Amino acid sequence: MTEARSRLIVALDVPDRTAALAAVERLAGHVGIFKLGLQIFTREGPALVREIAHRGGRVFLDLKLHDIPNTVAGAVRSACSLGVEMLTVHASGGRKMLEAAHDAARDAPAPTLLLAVTALTSIAPEDAHSIGIQGSLASWAERLADLAFGAGLRGLVTSAHELPYLRGKFGDTMCFVIPGIRPSGAAVQDQARTATPADAIRAGASYLVVGRPILEASDPAFAADQVVREIATALAQTQKQ
Ligand code: C5P
Repeated sequence: MTEARSRLIVALDVPDRTAALAAVERLAGHVGIFKLGLQIFTREGPALVREIAHRGGRVFLDLKLHDIPNTVAGAVRSACSLGVEMLTVHASGGRKMLEAAHDAARDAPAPTLLLAVTALTSIAPEDAHSIGIQGSLASWAERLADLAFGAGLRGLVTSAHELPYLRGKFGDTMCFVIPGIRPSGAAVQDQARTATPADAIRAGASYLVVGRPILEASDPAFAADQVVREIATALAQTQKQ
């Protein structure tokens, strides 16, 4: 169960510090990593990162950086100085931006895994076409994954849909963090390319990101435990094969 739990990242998409710390307290020991994204970081900033770390929580800072290379490199340095374990940049920022981000993370005093976001899990084919993406979402995601790999990154955030192909292509050289996770029967909400925890693990996920299906459950710790059990079962199946 420990391995399964360490693979579960909970997205703390909550309004403020009080709600975030209440969730951390409720979910400590039930999930592996706490993900702080744009909503909570914009409000509470680095102090909350330090507070969760001080309470023994592992932190993933999901800022999805996307700007000119110099600005992104500076932001990566600032984020790495907080001691976060994972940090995101948008692969669509291009090769020079990704290389600058990679160099900044590599030179940081403490290791931070830099993850490149490929095609957002909320993007459906019609959305991709409306922003000028030609071809399938899978080929767009692959292109962005190649770009990130070429720039030196060894982590991707991508949907479970293109995961089997990307895992086959990159093997164990890449860490795959998969959002858009919905336990069977859960509401899809604004996500478009979803998968169950078991399907994502069987497809080769290293980590799963789950937000609302846990945070909005009547008993978040119980909901997290259910996801962990599903991860454990799927891991046992894949390891037997
Ligand atoms: O509530 P839900 O499980 O949909 O939350 C998913 C989380 O993963 C959100 O915090 C969202 O910002 C993040 N995410 C995502 N798709 C990506 C990258 C990150 O949903 N491609």
